[in-house]
Amino acid sequence: MALETRPLSPNLGAEVIGLDLTRESDETVKRGLLDTWTQAGLILVRDVQTPEAHMRLSSVFGSPGPAATGVLNLDRDPRVMGMLQDPDDSLKKGMPIFEVDGESRAGYLGWHWDQSFMPEIVRGAALRMVDTAARGGETGFIDAIAAYERLSPDLQRRIESLEVVYHMTIDQHRNRFGFPKTLKAARERADAEERSRQYRSDFPAVVHPLVITQRETGRKVLKLSPMHAQHILGLETGESDALLETLADLLVDPRYAYFHDWRDNDLLIWDNWRLIHSARGVPPEVRRYAERTTIYGDYGVGRYLDPALQGSKPRRGFVD
Ligand SMILES: [Fe+2]
Repeated sequence: MALETRPLSPNLGAEVIGLDLTRESDETVKRGLLDTWTQAGLILVRDVQTPEAHMRLSSVFGSPGPAATGVLNLDRDPRVMGMLQDPDDSLKKGMPIFEVDGESRAGYLGWHWDQSFMPEIVRGAALRMVDTAARGGETGFIDAIAAYERLSPDLQRRIESLEVVYHMTIDQHRNRFGFPKTLKAARERADAEERSRQYRSDFPAVVHPLVITQRETGRKVLKLSPMHAQHILGLETGESDALLETLADLLVDPRYAYFHDWRDNDLLIWDNWRLIHSARGVPPEVRRYAERTTIYGDYGVGRYLDPALQGSKPRRGFVD
């Protein structure tokens, strides 16, 4: 029997309806979920009420594993990250607060795919909302296949074999391409500079292609993560900056974004090789708690900028 689905937005995503969440899906249902993921890039399942159901659904799309972010992985199960916006932290403990269009936001993250600062790119992630924010907290998604198809044929040809260098840029307002012009740090962490330096040394620069192909369909993906992007390999600075700015602005065009307005127990599963996502953040006095699994995998075309580092592992973890 075919899965019952409906589009999540005109641009991307599908909601899957009527799944039995109390047990593992049979092979036909699993195949249907994978096919839906390939077509839509993002799947919503509502009323996922238990960590067990979250893990069962995650496992349909690959092997869940601990995020690179050791610090957020739960003792209960290190394959699950606890993502908490706690007003106590936001208001008192010196966590960073950003301002976008004059609005204060804790937990703001600009457009990115997960772990672009690593040579291996995880397959996807599944985020379950446990405690929905009273205000804000939306998660945004953009389809980078559609973004590639929006480029002019000339631009498509120009970028075909280019590569981008990524290096950890943990402070959101220091990202230079595809980020809001109004973004600023309303409050930085006390140890922001030291932390930033440490992360940049722990995670050496990596290189990823600007265009990849979706294996199942042959469609091309504009594989640019605005977060952490530094420059295009081999181009001089002015030309590289101009091209990255053009591409990032085309990619993050808000007309093609879908922002998910969460309810408790919503589960979103995204294809990290295809979509970029962003976190709107919440007002600092608002609480939000979500749990995320990371679905392992690697598309096999990323590498360290320094060839001597191939095969080495970073020394510590980070959340992105
Ligand atoms: Fe992310």
